[in-house]
Amino acid sequence: MADVKIIQSKPRKTPNLPNYQQAYQEFSWDKAAGELVDFFPDGTLNIAYNCIDRHAEGDKKDKKALIYNGDDGTKEDYTFADMKKLTSQFANVLTGQDVKKGDRVFIFLPSIPERYVAFLGILKMGGIAGTMFAAFQEMALLDRLQDSQASVIITNADLYPRIENIKKDLPKLQKVILVERGSAELPAGEHIVSYDKEMANASAEFEPAKMSKDDYSYMLYTSGTTGKPKGVVHGHLDVLQAMVSTKYSLDIQDDDIYWCTADLGWVTGVVYGVLGIWGLGGTSVIFDGRFSPEAWYKVLQDYKVTVWYSAPTAIRMLMGAPTQPKDFDLSSLRHLASVGEPLNPEAIWWGMDAFGLPFHDTWWQTELGAISITNYPGIEIKPGSMGKPLPGVYAAVIDDGGRELPAGEEGDLALKASTVSSLMKTIWNNQEKFDSYFRGEWYISGDRGIKDKDGYFWFVGRSDDVINTAGERVGPFEVESALVTYPDVIEAGVIGKPDEIRGQIIKAFVVTQPGVKQTEELKTKIQAHVKKHLAGHAYPREIEFIDKLPKTRSGKIMRRILKSKELGQDIGDTSTLEDY
Ligand code: WTA
Repeated sequence: MADVKIIQSKPRKTPNLPNYQQAYQEFSWDKAAGELVDFFPDGTLNIAYNCIDRHAEGDKKDKKALIYNGDDGTKEDYTFADMKKLTSQFANVLTGQDVKKGDRVFIFLPSIPERYVAFLGILKMGGIAGTMFAAFQEMALLDRLQDSQASVIITNADLYPRIENIKKDLPKLQKVILVERGSAELPAGEHIVSYDKEMANASAEFEPAKMSKDDYSYMLYTSGTTGKPKGVVHGHLDVLQAMVSTKYSLDIQDDDIYWCTADLGWVTGVVYGVLGIWGLGGTSVIFDGRFSPEAWYKVLQDYKVTVWYSAPTAIRMLMGAPTQPKDFDLSSLRHLASVGEPLNPEAIWWGMDAFGLPFHDTWWQTELGAISITNYPGIEIKPGSMGKPLPGVYAAVIDDGGRELPAGEEGDLALKASTVSSLMKTIWNNQEKFDSYFRGEWYISGDRGIKDKDGYFWFVGRSDDVINTAGERVGPFEVESALVTYPDVIEAGVIGKPDEIRGQIIKAFVVTQPGVKQTEELKTKIQAHVKKHLAGHAYPREIEFIDKLPKTRSGKIMRRILKSKELGQDIGDTSTLEDY
């Protein structure tokens, strides 16, 4: 860390906040809220109004909000006026189905424009929007839909069978709204509602619901070490921190064409694919297709993308690919940023070489609702560091007693809770879990870090067993639970194994029934089982058969031991072990 080579990043395009220090000194929440967010006269607000209606009612009505590039080559543009009409219609569709303020409405769709219309339509009428990856299978869906007690799901004919299969276990589910785009025929049923038909009949006028700043807006399920995924719930004032960070960290200006590569099923897709960019009235590109270097460079080239927010695994895949940026005209790019996992210095150096620009690392979490530590435009970048706190955010490295540690010492990466206006409001149905995040005035991230003498933060690792594979946060318990539903498997322990491209891969140690042949074929079958029942991306890429799992005397799997064994490290203190 001592002798890192520093990169001077370009200053902001519009020097309204010429440097980091000034941004930091000038910043106050009240001022920013007053300047950036439109409140209704009674002091309430609505994210959908701030992201769409106010622009549609002003100078930006004909500005492109969403540029859609489909998997099949479909290209569509939506202006802010279009988005206002569609989101109002969808809000009317929901109220017509008797959805009330505070009801949970979940979206299970690929990355098509209707997904964004639905998301903002839900917020507009005061519902709580939940988003899910199209890769989710029945177990992952059931966990989320049961816990949230969602009453309505928006999906399409392709994905619907997964809902159909679990419907009997979802007593609170009233309606399934099916988007027709591209599908042959819709299934029939009393609970089935056609998106296209209802939208065609719905009024384009809708008065956005008046929400207090703490009223719930969206929820996302995310993983911890133990138990099932937890519902992280956010409020309507989240739009403020999303906008502040999109402006000061991602440097969005009025004429930018912005591409955030994240899926709406992930918090980055929500906050930086919707809230921040549209809060500022910016233009956002959506690409619904599989990752390939050619496809991605073509999106950057064809749409003349200027600001690109991506993730380390994708960047590392681009680095290693035969197709390189020099084969495309990417001269429109002016600012690059990255999030989700440690960004290795090599990736930054490659960016300098390939685009003439550094990737600016940013750090945050689902629970935080917005970028909290970042490499500013204009800041000196220390490759390998996550940067400095966003204006107004107070971040620190603390010890078990909540005391700030001196520069250079490793500890818990924490934030003063009162300085993050987008911090989650609650964990759905789980006050105890919510409370466990706090130590006095501190919100504890679960990450370990170091702050250097210049105030830069460096990521060390997780303090728990959460796996970060290709930027996706996966809980070992979910994967273990899926593994043991395979008939030949008795029990399983799951860890994150370091991987050059994906940061970590999921590795499972599996104990099989007596007499079962432990073959490579069995491993493939077990992998397919997890893909089919949990999620396409959350399966163990590596499986090792083991006779017995290391456990504590109380029967808890000691993943720490599995990890040390995997890394060939000393297994440390084993005094609580059963008899390993
Ligand atoms: C990790 C994603 C290193 C970290 C927005 C965090 C990072 C978890 C970085 C949150 C980064 C995120 N460098 N690690 N720049 N950004 N992480 O909730 O462990 O999906 O706690 O939110 O990802 O993942 P989540």
